[in-house]
Amino acid sequence: MNKLLKQSINFLVITFITGSYAQSKMHFDQSKPIEERITLLMSKMTLDEKVGQMNQYNGSWDFTGPLPESGSEEEKYEHIKKGWVGSMLSVRGVKEVRAVQKIAVEETRLGIPIIFGFDVIHGYKTLSPIPLAEAASWDLEAIKKSASVAADEASASGLNWTFGPNVDISNDARWGRVMEGAGEDTYLGSKIAMARVKGFQGEKLDANNTIVSCAKHFAAYGYAEAGKEYNSADMSTSKLYNTVLPPFKSALDAGVRTFMNSFNTLNGIPATGDSFLQRDILKGAWGFDGYVVSDWASIKEMVTHGYAKDGADASAKAVMAGSDMDMESHLYVKELVKLVENNTVEERFIDDAVRRILRIKFELGLFDNPYKYCDDVREKATIGNKAINEAVLDMAKKSIVLLKNDSNLLPLKKSGQKIALIGALAADKNSPLGSWRIAADDNTAVSVLEGMQQYKNNQLVYKKGTDVSIGKQLFVQEVKINSDDFSGFEAAKKVAKSSDVVVMVLGEVGFQSGEGRSRTELGLPGNQQQLLEEIFMVNKNIVLVLNNGRPLALPWAAENIPAIVEAWQLGTQTGNAVAQVLYGDYNPSGKLPISFPRNVGQCPIYYNQLNTGRPVNKEKNVFWSHYIDVEKTPLFPFGYGLSYTTFKYENLKLSKSKYKRGETVELSVEVANTGNLDGKEVVQLYINDPVASIVRPVKELKGFELVELKKGETKTVKFSLTDAELGFYNNDGDYLIEEGTFNIMVGGRSDKGLTDKFELK
Ligand code: NOJ
Repeated sequence: MNKLLKQSINFLVITFITGSYAQSKMHFDQSKPIEERITLLMSKMTLDEKVGQMNQYNGSWDFTGPLPESGSEEEKYEHIKKGWVGSMLSVRGVKEVRAVQKIAVEETRLGIPIIFGFDVIHGYKTLSPIPLAEAASWDLEAIKKSASVAADEASASGLNWTFGPNVDISNDARWGRVMEGAGEDTYLGSKIAMARVKGFQGEKLDANNTIVSCAKHFAAYGYAEAGKEYNSADMSTSKLYNTVLPPFKSALDAGVRTFMNSFNTLNGIPATGDSFLQRDILKGAWGFDGYVVSDWASIKEMVTHGYAKDGADASAKAVMAGSDMDMESHLYVKELVKLVENNTVEERFIDDAVRRILRIKFELGLFDNPYKYCDDVREKATIGNKAINEAVLDMAKKSIVLLKNDSNLLPLKKSGQKIALIGALAADKNSPLGSWRIAADDNTAVSVLEGMQQYKNNQLVYKKGTDVSIGKQLFVQEVKINSDDFSGFEAAKKVAKSSDVVVMVLGEVGFQSGEGRSRTELGLPGNQQQLLEEIFMVNKNIVLVLNNGRPLALPWAAENIPAIVEAWQLGTQTGNAVAQVLYGDYNPSGKLPISFPRNVGQCPIYYNQLNTGRPVNKEKNVFWSHYIDVEKTPLFPFGYGLSYTTFKYENLKLSKSKYKRGETVELSVEVANTGNLDGKEVVQLYINDPVASIVRPVKELKGFELVELKKGETKTVKFSLTDAELGFYNNDGDYLIEEGTFNIMVGGRSDKGLTDKFELK
């Protein structure tokens, strides 16, 4: 049957059943349940219009001005008018969003509003620290707040959907996108995923200052082989279930309404076409009723992968596998109607996808007010306001990790010192914004130089030493710190020599990590290592402030430089945060969410590895699991970070030594602040199941608490372990809780702590 005829019949039937034409518009009736409104609306939609909802285009033109001449953009415009576009990405700003929405709502047959997505990864225009840095705070409230201020700012700019959080677990520093996740640990990552989703989506999805969030990239993208971007992932079912999937499940438990699939293949199947992931697990076992968006052109890329023979085949495979929305492959809109008409794809797959997409639009309240995010007054009052800047500053301070502080070189004295500030990154106002800062204006970060200049009672002299050459564009092929210009070394050395302390800001530029930025070297790029060593020859009192989007391997610095501060890329307020930490106005409490290797050859290195049969060097020969040229431990372990004060752990107590399955294991530990300053400590609980039907990691984080302790104060910190923490998934995906001994460790880092054990029967 011709589709227009079919549509008219549908329409007549509905009109007949409901008794009036007015009632056929009932999907606008807010008193009706959402599912009923969707049914009514879908009964009026042609197949073309349904497929249109599944199509997402990138908007890179200004709709409020004359249309560009380029055919494809004109085509997008025409498609919006026909109701063939359900979502746009990267259209932003009230004026532009309103203009596009107006076409969808006022010029299309059914007036279905568009959902506007954007990569709000660590802030929108005002940037918070990169997500990996935020994870270093282990402060879930602060992370949630950071997501909620990002949602506030983004929604004020017309947006209602973020492609975040990235909940990919990754333990490979070579992979550029480690900057975007929460690090290597599943437990920490799951808690952070939950905090971020709650922050973005708030209490009410239909409020105008909250946005839909998206758990990505489903799944195993963080396990790209050799840390090489877009590479394939291959892993056991137990690894998938125990390590990769839990943060996604946690995001779902927090109410995340969309998922994005991923570019990679998992065990030979592109995630975009993987029905085991999307249909069986996500929409089946987990009961997810929101929608899945593909990653950018990932439907089309199934052809390149060698999984689909052409665009039509890729579309069929993707939609049947559960990819509901096509981001920029332009294939669904081209192929799906034909595929249904020639009976390759059953229409129920389309209906299912469309229902999911419309559901989220209804939940956002877009049908009731499509322009709810388009308030110029709110936009003006919100973007970059004081409250947002205060929140990102707070987050930035909490994200800093003190890696080394010999002889209490830090904090710096507030007066009477001559300080040399060296390194081009120290004065850089762009790099601290990090990767994924599409909406931010260039050079809007407070630099470390500017931050330190606010402490006026010292003599501060800045010399860049070496240069930074940063491509301004997001997508430049190569971004590097100049490696062959040594002309600034002498001036820097001269100033360093005559100073009391040297602060050196070195590391990666903001675009050396992120998507498409895998690295095979993890040292300081360019000639920065040489600069560091030459300055050290003239003045050993060096505070090294690191800027980086991934773990760096800096064994020489770890051994020789007395003070090292991990300052990542901290966003708009970078300089203020760093200065407050350097001068002791903020006592750092961050802990590494990812292990720092000694060299790149150790990658992937992570604390929760499985034991080998030969873990120690018992017989002093070579036949044990190790390297012959470097220790097998990381340079700085997961969970590690110092404070300007010190903490002591005592009296680890279990409520019992034997528990029955299903019982809660209660334990407590006393933590004392034994130094001279108030401070915060992340108290961490690790478990180990030494005998199991699937070998378990040597250690696994299963609890943590951020405690504030005044100097001299002691607090008792309590933890409990339930089935949720004590079990694991086997290779059939079954969750098992096995009896036997469990070892526990509590401390301030993953490699040391108080230990005890209990039995589970
Ligand atoms: C590709 C990235 O993988 C994804 O994370 C992002 O959301 C989309 N591009 C849209 O920018």
